[in-house]
Amino acid sequence: MTDDLHGRVEPDRAAPLHTAPRGPDYRPRHVAIIMDGNGRWALRRGLPRTVGHCAGVEALRGVVKAAPDLGIKILTCYAFSTENWKRPKDEVDTLMSLLLEYCRLEAENLHRNGVRINAIGRIHELPPAQQQEIARAVALTRGNDRLILNLAVNYGGQAELVDAFRSLAAEVQSGRLAPEAIDAEVVRRHLYTADLPDPDLIIRTAGEMRLSNFLLWQSAYAEIWVTDVYWPDFTREHLEQALRDYARRERRFGAL
Ligand code: FPP
Repeated sequence: MTDDLHGRVEPDRAAPLHTAPRGPDYRPRHVAIIMDGNGRWALRRGLPRTVGHCAGVEALRGVVKAAPDLGIKILTCYAFSTENWKRPKDEVDTLMSLLLEYCRLEAENLHRNGVRINAIGRIHELPPAQQQEIARAVALTRGNDRLILNLAVNYGGQAELVDAFRSLAAEVQSGRLAPEAIDAEVVRRHLYTADLPDPDLIIRTAGEMRLSNFLLWQSAYAEIWVTDVYWPDFTREHLEQALRDYARRERRFGAL
């Protein structure tokens, strides 16, 4: 994985931990979404699952458009997991084509709207065309700061930790890092998200109450919001509903 594919985003370390004051203006800076339910949305309409994924891209467009107006600075979307390769070939092919198309057709528009595209995951294992389009979109939008759209592609939380541990082990082996020097901050700096703050809010659509290998380290203190709405039906209004719920939560980060 190259630095180019990640981009470098300076985290706002001076920012407060978003603990107080509560109220409707208490907004998450980083929202991460598990976009689930595309298949069920399609099957319910008697359509192939792949049509559900196409509709899912439309929902993604709507949410990316709405996010900056709602005060969101970073939006991480789980587009393809390391486990999704186990799906039937035609479905994997559709998802890969949608990724290519999204980067190809949407990058200019996102660029005009001040969106910076970033990608996390084992990007180097994707087909070359997808790697190229992602790199192109990342490079084109590098200077933007209205919203970071962070696409999790061929992403798995366990794979991310394995990659971090491998890189830490290599540094220890070469004598550049002492084992005693490894703490949570050092581990954090070896994650794909080293340059991003942790998500404040994780949204999951389609009702399942699990993380499905998403942002395992980073979700330590994330608030979780689950809706039964299938991803293709998810709109700005649902996002606003999630933000209203978030504003009522009390975040203590282990303190009292
Ligand atoms: C889960 O729904 C969704 C996915 C595995 C893929 C998510 C992808 C998109 C929303 C569109 C692709 C976007 C880009 C940028 C490529 P599911 O298929 O597991 O639904 P089900 O649980 O109802 O079967």
